[in-house]
Amino acid sequence: MKSQDKSQVRNFYDSVGWKLEADNFYQNARYEDLRPVSSEYIHRCHLRVNRHLRRKGRFLLDAGSGPVQYPEYLTYSAEYDYRVCADISILALLEARKRLGNKGLYVVADVSYLPFKTDTFDSVVSLHTLHHLPKDDQKRAYRDIFRVMMPGAAAVIVNGWPTSIFMNRMSRLVGLMERFMGMFKHEQKVETPVPAKDSEMVSSTPAVTGTFTERMDAATIRVELPELTIDIRVWRSVSVRFLRAVIHPWLGGKLWLKLIYRLEERDPHHYGLIGQYPMILIEKPKGSSS
Ligand SMILES: C[S@@+](CC[C@H](N)C(=O)[O-])C[C@H]1O[C@@H](n2cnc3c(N)ncnc32)[C@H](O)[C@@H]1O
Repeated sequence: MKSQDKSQVRNFYDSVGWKLEADNFYQNARYEDLRPVSSEYIHRCHLRVNRHLRRKGRFLLDAGSGPVQYPEYLTYSAEYDYRVCADISILALLEARKRLGNKGLYVVADVSYLPFKTDTFDSVVSLHTLHHLPKDDQKRAYRDIFRVMMPGAAAVIVNGWPTSIFMNRMSRLVGLMERFMGMFKHEQKVETPVPAKDSEMVSSTPAVTGTFTERMDAATIRVELPELTIDIRVWRSVSVRFLRAVIHPWLGGKLWLKLIYRLEERDPHHYGLIGQYPMILIEKPKGSSS
């Protein structure tokens, strides 16, 4: 069953997710809000990851790297000798090589069975990947990421929660705005293509992404992985569905996003728990080893 899930995920990314479409975006980018009105907020959220990584080092592991699709992702390894991209999709790695060239090392691997020596990496990132694994393998992946970290290293894992208290509170507004926007559907100029389904909904409805997904909540992560010291902070508290429905230039969208960002900065732990996307931060204490 598990290997079927994984080969389904791999096939999806090899044949759909990492295919470049006519406008030069990957199919996978349809799950992001690429409109100019949201770009500054999204850019600043991407850069949050840097705060928790070692700035320099020899090896940074990107577990489930995909093609390293956004320019901000390159900043994580800017001062590293090598970025090790591990992914089950060969197409992801071929595309990543176009961006990283010789700075990248490319390994077809399952993130729950990392083929690396213990205590190897100065930093680890894993972005929007672990939710593709069944729960037991997710736990394995967390432990394996910890194992390959050097003592003193940090890992930043970004994944959506199964449900978000903040987004649930906004669901009525989102519904109203969607209905309102629907009335003008034919007259609107579509700035970026919209996927058939948003990958993360404001309710706990399972995501329809064409791939297997399973999401763990904060309590489960802490209970199931008691040996790891985990800090949870906000990566981005709003969903793509919220952005598309509520944030528009003609409604002061940039200002609203500045306000949301400021709130997130003021209380990153709170918004990490109630928002849509947390950063799960793991540190390996100096002097310890797996
Ligand atoms: C949503 S994409 C995210 C890619 C990239 N991290 C990003 O944020 O753009 C998920 C990636 O995880 C990879 N993936 C899924 N399951 C995996 C597994 N068990 N081991 C390694 N990679 C996996 C997929 O092939 C895909 O490239």
